[in-house]
Amino acid sequence: MTKSDSAKGQKGFVLWMTGLSGSGKTTIANILEEELRGRGLLVERLDGDIVRESLTRDLGFSKEDREKNIERVTFVAKLLSRNGVACICSFISPYQSIRDRVRAETTNFIEVFVDASLESVVERDVKGLYKKALEGAIPNFTGISDPFEAPSNPDIHVRTDLQTPLESAGKILGDLEDTGLIPVAELE
Ligand code: ADX
Repeated sequence: MTKSDSAKGQKGFVLWMTGLSGSGKTTIANILEEELRGRGLLVERLDGDIVRESLTRDLGFSKEDREKNIERVTFVAKLLSRNGVACICSFISPYQSIRDRVRAETTNFIEVFVDASLESVVERDVKGLYKKALEGAIPNFTGISDPFEAPSNPDIHVRTDLQTPLESAGKILGDLEDTGLIPVAELE
């Protein structure tokens, strides 16, 4: 048992989901949370839209503020992952250098690229934000008027414009099992 294992032998890790707004990060994170809880694992979820209503509600979307947002989340993810908790994080986190910093500071960091083409997320426009951003009503909007640095070498890559959320979640669970971070599910 290493330091990042919980009392029950669970391995702590940070599943870091990065991708454009509306790419499906939260939807997949919800499925994963339920599945891991169902397997009896300790799970916490940190999500941009939720964290920005509390821990980072004073921050906006400049590069500096996005950096501070992720810095504070990293602090929490670090404590959870080193104490044997499965920590599912879903943030646009558009800068590679900042994602690399989270990797360096947390235990068992796994970068998941939740990939959907810009055209597909603009077309879906789940929250109606792309329409506003394209009209110029929201400045610094990722993918429209602000950069998104796609991971060049993600640990896991899912294509939500080609797969269903369940398929993407299944791929992630399989990879977590293969790397030994979660126990292999028993057949019912
Ligand atoms: S991050 O860049 O700092 O990682 P985070 O994931 O916390 O972003 O928040 C992104 C969410 O904030 C989006 O899904 C969207 O709902 C909302 N949002 C509001 N303004 C912006 C903006 N300018 N760019 C991106 N997302 C925005």
